[in-house]
Amino acid sequence: MITVTTRSELHEALASARSATSRIGLVPTMGFLHEGHLSLVDRARQDARFIVMSLFVNPLQFGPGEDFERYPRDAERDAMLARQRGVDVLFAPAVTEMYPDGEPRTFVEAPGLDNRLCGAFRPGHFRGVLTVVAKLLNLVHPDIAVFGRKDIQQLVLIRRMVRDLEFHTTIEGGAIVRERDGLALSSRNVYLSAEERMQATLLRRSLLDASEAFGAGIQDAAELVQRVRARLADGALVRPQYVELVDAESLENVPIAAAGDVLAIAAHVGSTRLIDNIVLGETAD
Ligand code: PAJ
Repeated sequence: MITVTTRSELHEALASARSATSRIGLVPTMGFLHEGHLSLVDRARQDARFIVMSLFVNPLQFGPGEDFERYPRDAERDAMLARQRGVDVLFAPAVTEMYPDGEPRTFVEAPGLDNRLCGAFRPGHFRGVLTVVAKLLNLVHPDIAVFGRKDIQQLVLIRRMVRDLEFHTTIEGGAIVRERDGLALSSRNVYLSAEERMQATLLRRSLLDASEAFGAGIQDAAELVQRVRARLADGALVRPQYVELVDAESLENVPIAAAGDVLAIAAHVGSTRLIDNIVLGETAD
């Protein structure tokens, strides 16, 4: 594996990969790698011979008062894990390398999709995500890029951007990787105290409860959402931000649940914001 920090080094590394006519896979991350990120490398490997991972904490997607400054970082450990997992090029640019002219003047937005769910509580977040992902796709020109289904809204928006703007990359979703007790892996889990960590399992458990209820024939969205909320209320430290049942493409609320719809949660556990989701009617990841 080689680590590159500039766009020109990246360009050179890719030129030799391309001349060997390998298919290129891209796995974008903000680092502090865990098994969730690394599983995306395995997924990319199924369709590509040459794997690029980006490691960039993107200031554009953090709002004022969010955790950009204190977002966990460990570049050395990340490089070791990426190498062990078979990444070929690790692209770890500084902020000034990605945004040499300061904040860009041109952004990618998806009105109507980027202001729902998480976007309603994190204004500008998805504009920052789409803009940096568009830049990464243009820098790497991968044949495929893999994103986790944990960040379901992000995945839906990126798929839509790629369709709307004719990027030549196939977007694949990677299964959600979880701790044994069901908590979805997240770089932010390190913020949780022991008590918060225990209560954080309620996100997953509440989604499984609702998914079982759907399996038993309950289709009324309000009732499914209510089940999730009731279960989350078991955790004194859990404060839900939203619980919504939405269509998997339009992200619009559905009144009657059908297989393929997504039940999504964001909740603060203590001061840490966590998200999770489940696709109804699917064997849960
Ligand atoms: P980050 O939060 O570092 O996540 C990088 C990728 O890992 C995303 O596609 C995310 O969905 C996936 N991921 C995180 N936890 C996962 C889990 N438990 N199971 C499976 N996949 C998981 O998402 C971002 O970074 C950024 O927004 C980015 C796309 C890199 C743009 O800056």
